Amino acid sequence: MERDIDRTLYSREQIERRVQEMAAEIAKVYHDAADDLVIVPVLTGSIIFVADLIRHLPFKMRIGLMTVSRYRGATTEGGATQILRDLTVDIKNRHVLVVDDILDTGNTLRAVSEQLMEREPASLRLCTLLRKPSKAPKDLTADFVGFDIDDVFVVGYGLDFNDHYRNWPDLAVLRPELYQ
Ligand code: XMP
Repeated sequence: MERDIDRTLYSREQIERRVQEMAAEIAKVYHDAADDLVIVPVLTGSIIFVADLIRHLPFKMRIGLMTVSRYRGATTEGGATQILRDLTVDIKNRHVLVVDDILDTGNTLRAVSEQLMEREPASLRLCTLLRKPSKAPKDLTADFVGFDIDDVFVVGYGLDFNDHYRNWPDLAVLRPELYQ
């Protein structure tokens, strides 16, 4: 796996520090709503991020799972967002925090937000580990962002290429010849 990596964007130590900071920001915002929060990780890319993040949140919460597919293994854009598995918990009148790995074109988080808003949550906020400001639409605001990055294809720490590399502990860029 290591020989496929071109460079590290953020090391595991940098990620760990930033995830702790994000958890502190989130804990502050939900101070009054703590214990009534539903975390909705957008699977599969957010699995490692959400596992680390929630262990730094000092209050009770529920987790509602939702599986979404967009790129279907390729690094190129195209294809509508597909909800492959719908939410597993009731969110009506509850505070919801959607957690995703990356806000790229924003299509995924927009589709997920629209679906969730129909269920009348008390509030809905978006948290993403990575954001590509050059591509993310201006009208889709993420409330919590780990790192703003250039428009490069990222793997590791839950992010995949063809369902591989999710277990690489750093956020990294693949060697271009592997996907171009
Ligand atoms: P959109 O464009 O809908 O993309 O904001 C969100 C979803 O697409 C996947 N994605 C990536 N996956 N490296 C990845 O491994 C990337 O650079 C990348 N860009 C988008 C990801 O599943 C994300 O939730």
